[in-house]
Amino acid sequence: MTQYTEFEFPPEQLQKPPCPHFKECGSCQLQHVKQESYEAWKEQRVKALLAENNLEPEEWKPSVFVGAGSRRRVSLNILREDKNVILGYNKFHSHDLALIEDCLLLTPQLSKIIKILPAAMLKIAPKGHLIEVMIQEADEGMFDCLITGLDESGARQTGEIASLAEKCGFCRVSFRKDTFSESVTQIAIHTPKKTNGALCVLLPAGAFLQPSALGEIALVKAVMDGLSHIKLGKRDKVIDLFSGCGTFAGELLSRCSVHAVEGDWPMASCLIEAAKGHARFSAEIRDLYKEPFVNRELRNYKAVVFDPPRAGAKEQCQTLAKSDIPVIIGVSCNPATFARDSKILTSGGYQFKSLQIVDQFSWSTHVELVGVFEKI
Ligand SMILES: C[S@@+](CC[C@H](N)C(=O)[O-])C[C@H]1O[C@@H](n2cnc3c(N)ncnc32)[C@H](O)[C@@H]1O
Repeated sequence: MTQYTEFEFPPEQLQKPPCPHFKECGSCQLQHVKQESYEAWKEQRVKALLAENNLEPEEWKPSVFVGAGSRRRVSLNILREDKNVILGYNKFHSHDLALIEDCLLLTPQLSKIIKILPAAMLKIAPKGHLIEVMIQEADEGMFDCLITGLDESGARQTGEIASLAEKCGFCRVSFRKDTFSESVTQIAIHTPKKTNGALCVLLPAGAFLQPSALGEIALVKAVMDGLSHIKLGKRDKVIDLFSGCGTFAGELLSRCSVHAVEGDWPMASCLIEAAKGHARFSAEIRDLYKEPFVNRELRNYKAVVFDPPRAGAKEQCQTLAKSDIPVIIGVSCNPATFARDSKILTSGGYQFKSLQIVDQFSWSTHVELVGVFEKI
């Protein structure tokens, strides 16, 4: 067994990890595995898990491995020691900081920013108090920065925040006290926008975006391909559950009418605002764990797309399994809950038509799946 992961690989499948921080940093667990073996391992894990659950898609779509150098979003821990700011990720299975100077997972633009960040944070970071900086790229190279662990009572000079934004090329900087607090914009040169097909939304701070543009393209394509078997006219309705800021909803709009449902108030609000400009698009805020859609509400939909957090969508799938919706497409970042939810759908009479693996969490043990289910 290696120290990087609980999984064992034979020596012939191993390679020299490309990142100098690999031994310390807990972000990647599988850099020491050759690419071919890494890909085979991920596919095999998904296959074994589905087999354990007696699930077998009729078709395995070719897997997509997005590769390193593509992450457009990063969350880093930052600490000011004295006249020095250090930055890094957590160590493997630990809250200790593993210092990094660069990260091979990131896009070249993000990689450039994190090299500038320590010096740019010198006047912002409080001494001896760990803060988290999330940076995310929206449309047209607009970088949004959300700092968790700072609030306005720490009132930094506007000039210092403006200087951080200028040095790092951030179009907006926001603070929030902790992950449960609302974020407060400190400076906004532009509000970052995100275009998803026919939809353009103004992103709230800390909005969920797929971690890579290439991964997003692959997931959107898999969802749209899943709908290719049904005839959809512009007036036909598809519902996008756990919609985030409309990654799938926007593309779906090019084919049909769409209702998007999201539980996070800022993200749902940005969709509700965007819906004002689209006759065939609507959005609502709803907690889908507490209040899943019931059959009566789903009667008029031709298809459902659901993309829940890692916990999956058990309660929603229990209702969906009893529905007559022709096509259900499940997107998941957790194969275990995906298998559980798929079993609920197949037990209710849905056929497991296809599965695609999209790996945009390179060198980690995580993987994303898109499953297509059709009512028999
Ligand atoms: C994996 S993300 C997918 C977002 C979107 N489909 C995308 O691809 O960009 C899961 C989404 O579910 C939302 N969510 C989490 N818990 C929820 C709940 N109880 N009800 C509704 N939405 C929820 C999150 O805010 C997040 O936007």
